[in-house]
Amino acid sequence: MEALALERKQEQNRELRVRLEQLKKERNAIILAHYYQRDEIQEVADFRGDSFLLAQKAAETEADVIVFCGVHFMGESAKILAPNKTVLIPDERAGCPMADMVNVDGLRKLKAQHPNAKVVTYINSSAEIKAETDICCTSANAVKVIESLDAEEIIWVPDKNLGQYVQDQTGKKMIIWEGYCNTHDMLTVKDVMEMKAKYPEAEFVVHPECRPEVVAMGDYVGSTTSILEYCRKSDRRQFIVGTEDGTGYQLRLDSPDKEFHFATKFLVCPNMKVNNLKKLVKCLETMKPQIYVPPAVADKARTSLERMLQVR
Ligand code: 13P
Ligand code: SF4
Repeated sequence: MEALALERKQEQNRELRVRLEQLKKERNAIILAHYYQRDEIQEVADFRGDSFLLAQKAAETEADVIVFCGVHFMGESAKILAPNKTVLIPDERAGCPMADMVNVDGLRKLKAQHPNAKVVTYINSSAEIKAETDICCTSANAVKVIESLDAEEIIWVPDKNLGQYVQDQTGKKMIIWEGYCNTHDMLTVKDVMEMKAKYPEAEFVVHPECRPEVVAMGDYVGSTTSILEYCRKSDRRQFIVGTEDGTGYQLRLDSPDKEFHFATKFLVCPNMKVNNLKKLVKCLETMKPQIYVPPAVADKARTSLERMLQVR
């Protein structure tokens, strides 16, 4: 960005941040931001986190209004866990294509074919799917959730890559839905090999939403939070990062003296990036768009989320 334009943008953002602080007080609002959000949003969040931590924060908060800076299913989970709160999202177009890859009819058919199976649903799913679910999980607790179940068979929706990883880790028999994350699934073995050749000293850290053959190349495999923790504690100076580009904000904040190279320039989730600071301020000003989950669906879905929060 040219110097003058950059200066103007910084000035605008300063004004937006002042307005945001006023609005937060007036509305008694809390701002939750996923690690994949733009830096300008992560900077002003009360809590930055992965899907698990943010769901926990939504369930615990005493604020009247939750502004969920993430994608739609995350806002829905917050509303399900905190039904009496107002939940806002800066831009309602922030969806998750993977969450849309599983539908209720298909899941019901699978349940009818496997009547003894337990249904485990990745939190990246709609409220209607969660209402058909025994227990939810995130990438941070998927292995623990599966291990906590006393079931011969498990129906797993919707992420085939994370499902494969969890099956390999636990040895459980899983019937795996064919969904995937458009962003993580984009990363190829060739991309990683090229980066490894370019940065031979670097460790490759990778999210299990990536393809199994890419995950197999990882020096460390883990959820967003565990990747952050691993890089923070590691003695290595350089990392090739196999997860969404927004994590760069927290990685650099934690370890300003380390180098982080993203495994491809395509590791950017366009859905996460439709939110920005201007829309965040506007949604608190107008109190729109709000997340709505029909109470009958929310009541059914809540059990699966609450069970997940209890797994230690
Ligand atoms: P986590 O926050 O559980 O690591 O999930 C990654 C993701 O793709 C969120 O949309
Ligand atoms: Fe969905 Fe993938 Fe974007 Fe997460 S990173 S919101 S799973 S598309």
